[in-house]
Amino acid sequence: MKTISTDRIVIIGAGLGALYAALKLAPRPVVMISPETLGEGASSAWAQGGVAAAMDASDSPDNHARDTVNAGAGTVDPLVADLVTREARDYILDLTTLGTPFDRTEDGGYVLSREAAHSFARVVRVKGDQAGAEIMAALIDQVRKTPSIQVLEGTMAVDLETDGDRVTGVAIQDASSARSKPVMLRGAAVLLAGGGSGGLFAVTTNPPRIRGQVIGMAARSGALISDAEFVQFHPTAMDVGEDPAPLATEALRGEGAVLINKDGERFMQALHPDAELAPRDVVARGIFAQNQMGNRPMLDTRAVLGEAIKDQFPAVAEACARNGIDPAIDPIPVAAAAHYHMGGIATDMQGRATLDGLWVCGEASSTGLHGANRLASNGLLEALVYARICAEDIAEAVADTMADPISIIFEMGGEAPAPTAVTTLRETMTSHVGVVRNATGLRKALCVIDRLEKAHGNSPSFLNMCATATLIAAGALAREESRGAHERDDFPEPKPGPGQRSQVYLSQALALRAQVSKDMT
Ligand code: SIN
Repeated sequence: MKTISTDRIVIIGAGLGALYAALKLAPRPVVMISPETLGEGASSAWAQGGVAAAMDASDSPDNHARDTVNAGAGTVDPLVADLVTREARDYILDLTTLGTPFDRTEDGGYVLSREAAHSFARVVRVKGDQAGAEIMAALIDQVRKTPSIQVLEGTMAVDLETDGDRVTGVAIQDASSARSKPVMLRGAAVLLAGGGSGGLFAVTTNPPRIRGQVIGMAARSGALISDAEFVQFHPTAMDVGEDPAPLATEALRGEGAVLINKDGERFMQALHPDAELAPRDVVARGIFAQNQMGNRPMLDTRAVLGEAIKDQFPAVAEACARNGIDPAIDPIPVAAAAHYHMGGIATDMQGRATLDGLWVCGEASSTGLHGANRLASNGLLEALVYARICAEDIAEAVADTMADPISIIFEMGGEAPAPTAVTTLRETMTSHVGVVRNATGLRKALCVIDRLEKAHGNSPSFLNMCATATLIAAGALAREESRGAHERDDFPEPKPGPGQRSQVYLSQALALRAQVSKDMT
């Protein structure tokens, strides 16, 4: 394989964590591997709600940390919750300085939205539902002006090279549908910030390329994975036949929007005292159950917002208009959709993975913040906090040198995943590894993944997808309890005692998959 060596720090991904880390590393030379033009294809840009931070004088980081721990169903690391929430306010001020036009009150404060399982209104927002897009636009503007940051747009990482326990390089390809032969890029350090795995499911709110690639490549190289089975399903993806499904932000329920079924009945009041503002896993299951019963759940914003939704939540209004829905007149059909991978590559408090030379931030990581049920709008906050922690730790670990820009000419001839295999994988994940799981379905899923991988394993990106899918399904089969977003109808209760985080190497998940496949043939 062609090899390029550089003193640049290699950042895989181009979402919020990647951009913020690149800025915090400046003036150290960085190269970002971005599959699309900056700003496109990253989950962060699609985030609607905003960033959670205790900004109100009557709120506090302690309250925020407590809500984070309570939502996480017994598996949040309280030290991590404390670390992330303690300085949340400083990150909002920094993003403001970097140009993010947060919604402000007349007296100069921040407009704060209420979201599920938060005991305070504490989500800073931009133009209602534009937080992700506007924060990304501000950071991209800064990145474009920073000479130490080189962005290789249209490239994607497919493999990590290791030398024993140390990461020594990253195999990258041209990201176009034709792909290219991989080129090995050996840099000063590697930061993985390439997102989660929601797109492994057929019903998802994630951009099309977010399909467990980064978690899969780290796992295939021997990195430890935590809590892989904990996948968060967003309750109110719009059920309008689009793939990915557009999001109807939880902030709408914070404004007072209600969930009704085809008979106009509110169904959440019977399921939780906080009704529509119950923890996200509870609402997702409520909506899933209504859909299973053919009751067509819908989000009704008519009474609380009426026509104002069009100004106050432009992304939601646009998705409605695209699908012939006028939310001032009609409720919005909704379904639960894979939204955020709470598990991922196990990291310590410095953002280091278990392989030397490898750091991880954002959704690809499993820091212990989210447990089995992420508190809304903690995802962007965690990406910011750990991006800075990783940048500081990398800066201490690598020599401070200059580096010339990299130039790569790719040769055509790489292998892209077969579209039919990807479709089967995604449908299998939604059918058998979705909102409600059981041993029969999870075993079926592992058999299908095994068969697909054997038939289509010539594409490294498909191997990455299969690795992450295996980790999720095997983790879900091994966890014989219901906890947070991980619901087993054959084990409906949590195990007694404190919740346990799971930790597994891909080799262990593959052994379980092989055993299940053997038993079923
Ligand atoms: C939302 O706006 O409902 C999504 C926010 C999040 O997932 O944190």
